[in-house]
Amino acid sequence: MLIRKFEPEDFPCVIDIERQVFNEHDPYFYMQFYETCSDGFIVAEMNGLVIGYVVGFLANEGTGRVFSLAVHPAYQGRGAGSALLKELAGIFRNFGALEIILEVRSSNTRARKFYEKHGFYQTGIVEKYYNDGENACLMRLRLNTSK
Ligand SMILES: CC(C)(COP(=O)(O)OP(=O)(O)OC[C@H]1O[C@@H](n2cnc3c(N)ncnc32)[C@H](O)[C@@H]1OP(=O)(O)O)[C@@H](O)C(=O)NCCC(=O)NCCS
Repeated sequence: MLIRKFEPEDFPCVIDIERQVFNEHDPYFYMQFYETCSDGFIVAEMNGLVIGYVVGFLANEGTGRVFSLAVHPAYQGRGAGSALLKELAGIFRNFGALEIILEVRSSNTRARKFYEKHGFYQTGIVEKYYNDGENACLMRLRLNTSK
């Protein structure tokens, strides 16, 4: 598996994965991220095919935020999500971040477990955060800056 920066040619694959796992973000966001914070836009490639992506940015000084992390359903459970998250954490650390924050749907038990496995813990709930009225679970990871 290859973990590398997003390139504009990856756009159709990223949008396809987004549609399959979330189907809620405007594709325009992803081009915006590429133009404004490309350092935090990373893809996982397997046999020449983009199978997952993560998008993150520095929200405040010292705080990295994960906007979106997704792996194509056919490739989940093979370590791609973990590899993408670790790469992004390394980038945030290099930018001096001390923590990473994110929101995840309360019903998304699998993703919450995934993040907990990577050291995230729940810091709160935002009621009706999503357009369909679902609550978001806020999670945080403290970065070990000595690593
Ligand atoms: C959450 C997600 C990114 C994880 O990526 P992934 O490539 O499947 O994850 P990994 O293969 O690195 O798995 C790491 C851990 O995830 C969890 N996990 C993976 N597959 C799982 C499954 N079928 N059921 C429950 N937990 C599972 C486990 O804790 C696993 O640990 P293990 O390897 O010790 O079993 C991926 O499942 C996904 O795209 N989900 C849909 C989109 C989403 O929910 N994104 C997160 C919200 S922003």
